[in-house]
Amino acid sequence: MSSHRPKITVVGAGNVGASCASWMAERDLGDIVLLDIPATKDMPKGKALDMLQVGPISGYNSHLVGTTDYADTANSDVCVITAGVPRKPGMSREDLVAINQGIVADVTKKIVATSPNVILIVVTNPLDTMCYVAYKSSGLPKHRVIGQAGVLDSARMRAFLAQAADVAVQNVTASVIGGHGDEMVPLVRYCNIAGIPITNILKAEQVTAIVDRTRKGGGELVNLLGVSAWLAPGAAAGSMVEAIVKDSKLVVPSSCFLDGEYGLKDMYFGVYSKLSRKGLEQIIEVPLNDEEMAMVKKSADLIKETMKALK
Ligand code: APR
Repeated sequence: MSSHRPKITVVGAGNVGASCASWMAERDLGDIVLLDIPATKDMPKGKALDMLQVGPISGYNSHLVGTTDYADTANSDVCVITAGVPRKPGMSREDLVAINQGIVADVTKKIVATSPNVILIVVTNPLDTMCYVAYKSSGLPKHRVIGQAGVLDSARMRAFLAQAADVAVQNVTASVIGGHGDEMVPLVRYCNIAGIPITNILKAEQVTAIVDRTRKGGGELVNLLGVSAWLAPGAAAGSMVEAIVKDSKLVVPSSCFLDGEYGLKDMYFGVYSKLSRKGLEQIIEVPLNDEEMAMVKKSADLIKETMKALK
């Protein structure tokens, strides 16, 4: 990344894309381009202008542009891909594969064509499969294509744990690896409150209920809202951009291309990752017991099944 103000493109100016842009602008992370398809007409321009006008109130100087023209995204440092069709009630993530594969592949090629140094953060579902699509169609090295899933899933778990233990969210570390779906892998052994294992503070039944609620976290929101959630997903992707543009080396779970980690190869899967200006600086593999490995395998099998739907 050069010394200029970071240029961040968000493709898909819908619910998640717009809230991600707004979250990043509030933190003055750089200049932001919000892009959507021409059929949306001036919608991305309107949303960007609205956010630009929050600047004087919130006190940020992020410049925001809305567009339907990829020329405006040229030389982006980071691009968040939220373009796609969201999950509707009763629709599984897997149902989305065919439509979103076409969209993500097309968007990826267009972004990389004018931003050869870009780092891609994929948000479109089904997440791990769409990361693979973006990776394959981008031609970029694996450290420059990662996906947002674990930041959101672990934030949901942290919120539930903090509520149950009646402590500050900042005290809570929660670890959710694996695929972004009902078979995600919450690692209770690696969750703690101010360093204290959660099992020392909460009852076993409470932990089990929280693990279950975290797994179904996306569905709970879809049932309440009628569409998938956008504020926490937007913030989660924004926080990954922040780690990259600030070169902070933040360790978070994210979906990464695996090459043997946990015995998995040639697929994307949620793992602990260190994020820096390089994108994915390092995958941190943690020791897992048999029960945890069984969950990893189940989760990976589900992604492999979804990947079979790829054309
Ligand atoms: N290029 C650019 N934008 C596109 C394209 C495309 N080819 N196809 C669709 N879009 C845009 C839509 O016009 C829409 O504005 O993507 C946007 C998606 O926004 P929403 O429908 O509001 O969906 P959202 O809730 O933001 O979810 C986006 O993120 O969390 C995931 O499951 C979610 O895959 C979904 C994605």
